[in-house]
Amino acid sequence: MTFSSIDSGAPIAPATENEILRAAAHIRAGELVAFPTETVYGLGANATNGEAVARIFAAKGRPHFNPLIVHVARLQDAEALASFSPLAYQLAEHFWPGPLTLVLPRRPGTNLSELVTAGLDTVALRMPAHPIARALIAAAQRPLAAPSANISGHVSPTRAAHVAADLGDKVAMILDGGDTRHGLESAVVTIANDTIVLLRPGAITAAALTEATGAPVTRAFDGGATPASPGQLASHYAPKARVRLGVGDPAPGEALLAFGPHAPTHQGPTINLSPSGDLIEAAARLFSALRELDATGASAIAVMPIPAEGLGEAINDRLKRAASPR
Ligand code: TXA
Ligand code: MG
Repeated sequence: MTFSSIDSGAPIAPATENEILRAAAHIRAGELVAFPTETVYGLGANATNGEAVARIFAAKGRPHFNPLIVHVARLQDAEALASFSPLAYQLAEHFWPGPLTLVLPRRPGTNLSELVTAGLDTVALRMPAHPIARALIAAAQRPLAAPSANISGHVSPTRAAHVAADLGDKVAMILDGGDTRHGLESAVVTIANDTIVLLRPGAITAAALTEATGAPVTRAFDGGATPASPGQLASHYAPKARVRLGVGDPAPGEALLAFGPHAPTHQGPTINLSPSGDLIEAAARLFSALRELDATGASAIAVMPIPAEGLGEAINDRLKRAASPR
């Protein structure tokens, strides 16, 4: 029994080699670990485990699914997850490891969770420079999904005690690395026609991006620190099929997206998001289930009612968007 699991309110651990190994084991077990990066503290989970990623959204209390940044320790691990254009390589060579996040086309057939990219065909990748972050990723041998380690709507944490105040009872461990260097999130960019598109201003300036690459920078945010909606550049995954919500009795020919132990018997294609009624499991499977049912060619996807509490709020938000006329 370790001290940190007794003191469940604030499991802050010094980032020794042993504690980093323990944190990595928590990550592999699907739990959440907060860790320092050079920008802000991240709330980390195994990005290849949908339920672990769902726990991030549940812990932060986010009412909707934003795509999350996937953190890697080596360029080859980034290359396995996304396609790099020559300009993307230039940016990675200059700014990685460091506070730059690249939004790139997601490779098909990887083991990344669909939830981590909110069903998008792009993935946001970052190789942090902080030695503790790098050691944790290397020890976990998994890419880490990690938004800032604060409750949704609160300011981003720059020291372990901030994380403990917000999320102390929701994480397995908080690795303490002292104050973060930048105290400001990474700059998020994507690439369009050999232009760098700044989606979120951050710890690297537009001038530095141009100076390093010779490429022009355009901005896709409103001038403040508000990120562009990911839907603005990479369109949100939307099923081709019509989506009907709150259905108790699906029609013949429809596909059924079921939830819970009382799903109606149905002849057509059916996926139950969670036969036991677990919202974490349902969130983890939502985007891949929508894709799979859409791929059956059914003209409509009938969706059973899903409770609005906890992660159900974000699930219902996504389903409402999928059902709205376009
Ligand atoms: O400094 C940072 O970037 C911190 C530390 C922990 O690394 N992380 C962080 O993550 O700020 P998060 O999840 O709070 O911010 C992710 C940002 C959001 O603005 C999100 O919309 C954008 O990246 N993003 C992620 N995936 C995207 C995608 N596929 N397309 C467009 N934007 C994306
Ligand atoms: Mg944040």
